[in-house]
Amino acid sequence: MASALFNFMFFIIFLLPLGTSSQNDGTVNVGTSLAATERSNPWLSPSGDFAFGFQKLQDNDQFLLSIWYNKIRAKTIVWYPKDTSPVSRGSTVEIDAQNGLVLRDPQGSRLWRTENIVDSVSGGFMNDTGNFVISRRDSSGIWESFKNPSNTMLPTQIIEINGKLVSRKSETNFSRGRFYLDMLSNGNLVLNTRSVSRNLGFDDEYYNSQTSDLANVSNSGYQVIFSERGSIQVLRRNGERKALTTERSIPTTSDYYHRATLDFDGVFRQYYHPKSFSGNPGWTAAEYWPENICVSIAGNYGSGACGYNSICRLQNGTPICRCPQGYSLADPNDANGHCYPKFMPNCGEEDQKGSAEDLYEMLEVSGTHWPTSDFEQISACSEDCCKNECLNDCFCAVSTYKDDKCWKKKLPLSNGRLDTSVDVNSFLKLRKVDVPLQRPNLPSPESPDKPKKDRETLILVGSVLLGSSVFINFMLVGAACFGFILIYNNKITNFRRVHNAAGLNLQCFTYKELAQATNGFKEELGRGSFGIVYKGAMPMGSITTIAVKKLDRVAQDTEKEFRTEVNVIGQTHHKNLVRLLGFCDEGPHRLLVYEYMNNGTVASFLFGDLKPNWNQRTQIAMGIAKGLAYLHEECSSQIIHCDIKPQNILLDEYYNARISDFGLAKLLMVNQSRTLTNIRGTKGYVAPEWFRNTKVTAKVDVYSFGILLLEIITCRRSVVDLEFGEGENPILADWVWDCFQEGRLDNLVVDDTEALNDKKRLERFVMVGIWCIQEDSSLRPTMRKACQMLEGILEVKFPPCPSPFTSTD
Ligand SMILES: *[C@@H]1O[C@H](CO)[C@@H](O)[C@H](O)[C@H]1NC(C)=O
Ligand SMILES: *[C@@H]1O[C@H](CO)[C@@H](O)[C@H](O)[C@H]1NC(C)=O
Ligand SMILES: *[C@@H]1O[C@H](CO)[C@@H](O)[C@H](O)[C@H]1NC(C)=O
Repeated sequence: MASALFNFMFFIIFLLPLGTSSQNDGTVNVGTSLAATERSNPWLSPSGDFAFGFQKLQDNDQFLLSIWYNKIRAKTIVWYPKDTSPVSRGSTVEIDAQNGLVLRDPQGSRLWRTENIVDSVSGGFMNDTGNFVISRRDSSGIWESFKNPSNTMLPTQIIEINGKLVSRKSETNFSRGRFYLDMLSNGNLVLNTRSVSRNLGFDDEYYNSQTSDLANVSNSGYQVIFSERGSIQVLRRNGERKALTTERSIPTTSDYYHRATLDFDGVFRQYYHPKSFSGNPGWTAAEYWPENICVSIAGNYGSGACGYNSICRLQNGTPICRCPQGYSLADPNDANGHCYPKFMPNCGEEDQKGSAEDLYEMLEVSGTHWPTSDFEQISACSEDCCKNECLNDCFCAVSTYKDDKCWKKKLPLSNGRLDTSVDVNSFLKLRKVDVPLQRPNLPSPESPDKPKKDRETLILVGSVLLGSSVFINFMLVGAACFGFILIYNNKITNFRRVHNAAGLNLQCFTYKELAQATNGFKEELGRGSFGIVYKGAMPMGSITTIAVKKLDRVAQDTEKEFRTEVNVIGQTHHKNLVRLLGFCDEGPHRLLVYEYMNNGTVASFLFGDLKPNWNQRTQIAMGIAKGLAYLHEECSSQIIHCDIKPQNILLDEYYNARISDFGLAKLLMVNQSRTLTNIRGTKGYVAPEWFRNTKVTAKVDVYSFGILLLEIITCRRSVVDLEFGEGENPILADWVWDCFQEGRLDNLVVDDTEALNDKKRLERFVMVGIWCIQEDSSLRPTMRKACQMLEGILEVKFPPCPSPFTSTD
């Protein structure tokens, strides 16, 4: 009786107020829809913990399609469709048999739908885990909110390789922010920043789970798991788990809700909230990554944890951003955004109004620094010297002093942080308060005939209202400054630059410095034909990790020749080459310092267990071709690599191919254009003319590239050990030619559907490869032509047999 009464009460209290579209068992039938109004009832999970529907946003009449915790006061949102904006009142969402979820505006136009759904949807289900599942007639799931997460992960949710979370713009703005959590194919879970406008590469990685093992892929991670018990872990292929959640005191999932969110400030936090609220309900952050976001972000691109010109200070794991004195927020409502300088640098003004000392002062801000943004380094410069250098340089906005060295920095300043653990002092250039602002008399491209006064008002008002326009003006002023500088060139103080060999930007290191940087040459990265490479750490502008190559047999005896070659290498600048940062030339010690590439070599990428996908492979091949074309034809003096092979091509953080070891052949050989006694190059990649007494030309690299290209296409080594392989097709080049001749290109990329679906490009790439490995070097294309053929700009003709003289049939 009591139970019947209870049921009745339940009915009265819970079911009656709910509309017809709402289900109490979590299922949602095809054809059911919801409207974006306060009165429509969301689709609830059986326990009522989670709801799916429209949540009204504060401040305006906008609604967000989302999933939220329905029983707690905060109604915390755990999912929303990425890249859709809030919708206006009267919009609808419907489950439809063809498309799954469909979101429409009040006029009925489609705004969003669940992707990759083809027909036969049987309905939806709001699970008590917080997962909304769309299933098929055979009751298998075809779409899950868990597999298409926004910024939050919930217990029982898994993120697979290539899965990601994206932060939102701010607490209240659900647009895409700058921060990403990515499960990378190399097995690492990383946090990184990406410019909103530039969706391509990462700007900077600021957390890494260290769960990649390229040498033994079975030790690499492949899933991020939020366990049912509330612990976040990276699961390795061998079944082991690396727990990210370390705290033992995480409360139980039976009494607490748990979630992990990549917050708008870039910190990935694990939170809990009591299910029954007594006392002080609210989310508590149990753990967060990274430990200190202010110092973890320090990339070449992007503004850092805060906006440009801002300073980041960590408080309980949360970055607090503030503008330095003399700067103010670009958007007063966005505390984590950019800061604009209140005055514009006005080059040349000194001449009209007195010295720089009359106009500017330098404010000491200790413990604060901007590790990037350098444009000049001065050694043997005292604190006073450092202040004066910046004061008298119209480009300089801040100078940083440490250990008798001074770094001058330019706007916009990035990665600003307060870091008391580093003993640095910075000096901020400020305009003296009693000096009136005067703007340079520049023609304005926007309003050429407006009187000057109007334009000034426009700039001043604009600096509050229209950030981007000010920024453009700012850039123009900067450009004009440069003109002034050229004119007033002779009045500029002479800097003591740390310049060396032929005035290049290469740094010259002492052996001791490099021994220190590599911790006594401790960590070996690899051994090449030229010597051993060690990993090291040294702050050089934005780069902190370096690769130091100890050359073991340098042919040149005199210092001058060594330096000449180093200079040739130092003058190369191409995105597909590893950049040389400096060198050491001290008696018997000859070392080269390169930027460190954190994704290993193409060899380990290509021949590891995790086969890279076709698209990545074609990009890598293109990159190598472009890098070689640059070495052969575009740099000041031609560089023939002589040892192109997958071990010599490195991958940077964006998986761009970067050629290493170029320019070294010349250091080791007497004369490239003469006969060689010592055969260089590596078995399997060496052009046939190496064995004849002919002149060595750039075509040797074309040959090696051809072999490498075939390896990239097939993910197979050019020479397979006979005992190891099937013994059937030991020579890659011969096998590719056979397949090509028989019209069986599919044999080259078995099981690689992506490549098989890209027949045209596959054929083009194979034909270019065959052209490149022609025994007759005059038949091989130049690298420039090879690039154009790979890109499809130049037609590829049917190639002849690559080795007509040695062919057995
Ligand atoms: C809800 O989620 C749980 C845990 O993942 C799962 O076992 C269950 O099958 C799901 N229910 C439905 C109806 O999909
Ligand atoms: C959210 O941010 C985006 C990108 O900055 C902006 O275009 C949009 O207007 C913002 N929306 C709201 C509601 O402030
Ligand atoms: C890879 O590591 C596992 C242990 O995690 C080990 O058992 C296995 O032998 C290793 N494989 C290779 C090829 O080293």
